Amino acid sequence: MSHEPLPTDQPAVVTCGLPYANGDLHVGHLRTYVVGDAYSRALRRLGQQTAFVCGSDMHGTPVAVNAAEQGVAPEEFALEYHETYEETFPEFNVEFDNYGHTHDETNTETTREFVRSWVDNDHVFEKEIQVAWDAEEDQPLPDRYVEGTCPYCGEKARGDECDEGCQRHLEPGEIVDPVSTLTGNPAEYREREHKFLRLSDFQEYLQGFLDRLEGTDNARNQPREWVDGELQDLCITRDMDWGIDYPGEGEEDLVLYVWVDAPIEYVSSTKQYTERVGAEEYDWRDVWTVGGEQRHGTGWEAGWTDEGGEIIHVIGRDIIQHHTVFWPSMLRGAGYNEPRAVLATGFVGIDGKALSTSRNRAVWADEYLETSFHPDLFRYYIVTGAGLETDVDFSWDRFAERVNGELVGNLGNFCYRALLFAHRNYDGTPDAEPGPEVRERVEDAVAAFEDAVADYDIRAVGEAAVELADFGNEYIQRNEPWNLVDDEPDRAAQVIRDCVQLAKACAVLMQPVMPETAERLWTQLGETGTVADAALEDALAAPPAEFGEPEELFTQVEDERVAGLNETLRERVAAASDGDAGADGDGDDGEPEAGDAADAGDLEPLADGRVSFEAFQELDMRVGEITVAEPIEDSDDLMRLEVDIGVETRQVVAGIKGLHDAADLPGTRCVLLANMERAELFGYESNGMVLAAGEEADLLTTHADAPVGTRVR
Ligand code: MSP
Ligand code: ZN
Repeated sequence: MSHEPLPTDQPAVVTCGLPYANGDLHVGHLRTYVVGDAYSRALRRLGQQTAFVCGSDMHGTPVAVNAAEQGVAPEEFALEYHETYEETFPEFNVEFDNYGHTHDETNTETTREFVRSWVDNDHVFEKEIQVAWDAEEDQPLPDRYVEGTCPYCGEKARGDECDEGCQRHLEPGEIVDPVSTLTGNPAEYREREHKFLRLSDFQEYLQGFLDRLEGTDNARNQPREWVDGELQDLCITRDMDWGIDYPGEGEEDLVLYVWVDAPIEYVSSTKQYTERVGAEEYDWRDVWTVGGEQRHGTGWEAGWTDEGGEIIHVIGRDIIQHHTVFWPSMLRGAGYNEPRAVLATGFVGIDGKALSTSRNRAVWADEYLETSFHPDLFRYYIVTGAGLETDVDFSWDRFAERVNGELVGNLGNFCYRALLFAHRNYDGTPDAEPGPEVRERVEDAVAAFEDAVADYDIRAVGEAAVELADFGNEYIQRNEPWNLVDDEPDRAAQVIRDCVQLAKACAVLMQPVMPETAERLWTQLGETGTVADAALEDALAAPPAEFGEPEELFTQVEDERVAGLNETLRERVAAASDGDAGADGDGDDGEPEAGDAADAGDLEPLADGRVSFEAFQELDMRVGEITVAEPIEDSDDLMRLEVDIGVETRQVVAGIKGLHDAADLPGTRCVLLANMERAELFGYESNGMVLAAGEEADLLTTHADAPVGTRVR
């Protein structure tokens, strides 16, 4: 990749985490695909040559287990879902330039080439390991065929991933108290020979890679502890039939681990795109290789070059380790280019709980489509509902609120008013020069859009048009053009010209997130061609002199619809939770040891209003450790603290002087509100807030082993 800010003159590829071809898509999956699609459109908008690729993940136990449950062969089972996904994505206006699958010829061949390169470069070794075994069925139990306890965080885990706890990848044999998912019997262990990719070869490289990596903070920071500690080698084979055979003589009984061939599909899918459009238009080698070829040899192992294209991965936060530790090593070991950015979105849940396909705790993609709400509404809601990294709960109430408030009430209302007034009075755009205020405003919006794309701030990209429309509504109100038409026709023409200009800019800016609606607005404006091909600067180009009567862009989501959808969801979630009863008792059997309970009569009454779960999640609270504490001399009650919150150390000014002895504080754990607005007190910047309760400033803290930096949820 280059280190120039985006857009660069190298081609880019945007990829999305491949969906396992093993079940219906839900709104959680869609977050990855909508964000990926919107981001790739936004990059193109900036003039960056971009391919947007993905494919179905056909292999591994996620597919094999579900296929077996249905009594269908894995290939047939996975292909059926693959075809469904291919049809579903465009219905959400998610338009991949190429959508392949991991079982196709291109990927089988590319995967084998990767593995051969690792072998040639001496990154692969063989080892006898203990694999879980079901004695009753007399078969090995790879990955999802076994469940147990995560050795790192103690949560319930699957054979190869701590999906409910720390999200770590688990190597074969690591899970504690393994139980077979086939029979429910405790698993035994048998010795087997397997192939490993020596990740320790890449340790130094990965440390440098993480320094260079762009994208969301979670993807850049979370892998730090893994690459700074001892890197465990990656077992790349499994005892299974379903998958890509390990290339090599005498290894016919081994297939590659699904996480080997899955990310390689990013390369294969780009190859297929090149095959379709021709290498003159888009050459996959310019993106994935450095200088058009695979690099090998010393120097390459640790070094880095700024040739090669811009690789940008969009994923959910559960697969950060795979994309920031395993995948860059896999690329490096085969002599390929490295990713420029990883964008890892927060998770989507319902009522504070994870979505669950097996328990039917989800809002399904098909279900959304059946409501006949426009796909752009969902896209807007999911992209702008929260910061990219924030976990969110899907809520029909919030959906309706955002659609009705921001899209119908603001953006739609402004464009309709502006175009209707222009059409009725001038048959289109009045012949007038635009005013400086609006020109400047559009220029600012364009610049902010460019910055947002370069900063991977997809939420800001999504909000750009609504913010401009908000200004537009205020501008119409303030200038009252209806009062100017008769007495000040020139002024009226200029104001309306300005409003049409703003509507045109809205079409250009909203296109990445709401492509179909932007196209409608473009047509209403009398523009020819497609808004997808318009450049960002076209936001400032003159709108057509003639256009017809506009139509409303968005339709109100009615309360009754929301009530009905809520009811369905509530019943479903309740049914799903029945299955939870007693399953996850947290073992909290002790009485609190805190001081005496305060007399209820003395306590502050409880707050009246409720905050949404999303609003709560806007608060970024972290486990911290006080490293320095100094009373501030001129103040009666303030103390200057330095608090280590893992990612960084914060200076905080806290009102605890006289309540705590400064000498006792270093080493004390606390909870810090990290995104509290900054303040200056007695000349000291306070960058965060330490949480405390009561007259004595009892410091809030955690009681077990949540590491410093952990987020409080
Ligand atoms: N097949 C792997 C990815 C391989 S990438 C080389 C996989 N598949 S998945 O079907 O489980 O998930 C597909 C995408 O959806 C991933 O980006 C994943 O992070 C995302 N999500 C799945 N469930 C999600 C939520 N509940 N919320 C947000 N994103 C979620 O992982
Ligand atoms: Zn764990």
